[in-house]
Amino acid sequence: MPKILRIGAGASQTLVATLRELALTRPLLVTDPFLVQQGFSERLLAPLLAAGIPCGVFGDCVPDPTTDSIAACLQVLRAGDYDCLVALGGGSSLDTAKGVAVLALHGGEMRDYKVPASVASGLPVIAIPTTAGTGAEVTRAAVITDTANQEKMLCMGLGLVPLAALVDFELTLSMPHRLTADTGLDSLCHAIEAYVSRKANPFTDSIALAAMQGISEHIRSACAEPDNRTAREAMMLAATQGGIAFANASVTLIHGMSRPVGALFHVPHGLSNAMLLAEVTAWSVGHAPERYARCARAMGLAAEDDSEALALEKLVAGLRQLTADLQVPNPRAWGIAEQDWFGALGTMAAQALASGSPGNNPRLAEAADIEALYRRVWAG
Ligand SMILES: [Fe+2]
Repeated sequence: MPKILRIGAGASQTLVATLRELALTRPLLVTDPFLVQQGFSERLLAPLLAAGIPCGVFGDCVPDPTTDSIAACLQVLRAGDYDCLVALGGGSSLDTAKGVAVLALHGGEMRDYKVPASVASGLPVIAIPTTAGTGAEVTRAAVITDTANQEKMLCMGLGLVPLAALVDFELTLSMPHRLTADTGLDSLCHAIEAYVSRKANPFTDSIALAAMQGISEHIRSACAEPDNRTAREAMMLAATQGGIAFANASVTLIHGMSRPVGALFHVPHGLSNAMLLAEVTAWSVGHAPERYARCARAMGLAAEDDSEALALEKLVAGLRQLTADLQVPNPRAWGIAEQDWFGALGTMAAQALASGSPGNNPRLAEAADIEALYRRVWAG
């Protein structure tokens, strides 16, 4: 967990106070071109300028950050006299800042820090998420693509946990439907996976259930009414809760199978999870029925007095309905060529298993099971 977690309307406007509390004086803002162009970075920096705190800007973060984009940001950092990074944006900007924070302190190449290496420390990062999704503001992970071979490297360790997170739902108002749906469904996966994970504990359980409840109640209105403050507030809180839950209990088979889909076919992270959510859950429920039934009840899909079997049925049906309502395409509808998908089944299954996440799933999958699931979601 970050040392400082400020949640609610206007939280991002407490940046000056946060920097002072942490005795940091020379921040570099790390963000993306869209947020610069839309004036988000200017609004964030105005109070700093007024307080006499100089702040540099790196505004060239890219989706799915690469070692090249990390190098460009590191160059800007080293050219100035900065003592911390302020990351404003979605998971990509936050992961960029995390990667730069490690290289700035320890040097070397990003690949030196991929798992099984563990990152113990980095420059301080203050994370200000602008999507309700990845939970990167509270996790100890960063995913960076190696430009040399397109490998999506997972880096982990306490040095990647932001020192502070300012979680301000007002930054998500007006976010478009697709991005709201995909990031929200990513959060829902974090919560469900953390709750059924073999590494779950009573602390992560309570947070995961709260996240599921909030997302289930509000995701449709957040998507349909971009300026619905109640829905945005609930989704933003749930995204951070989902992040805390999976940062401490791990994800399972959905994320394990989702990463290869993102790496090979460039499907956005939340969307590839969403494509897998209902079918992987249907395949797994029988191996932790009590846990999954509790998910169904937390999400309001099953009544307290429904039998366990009925609750499981309702959970799977409810997830299928939710992804249908939010127009989640299957891989075929998303535009992946049939021969490419079926040709990659073996590679995807191997990569999924190698990530280790499937080992946390209630039902343990072998490569053949994973391939069968990929086949099932193709046109499902
Ligand atoms: Fe995720």
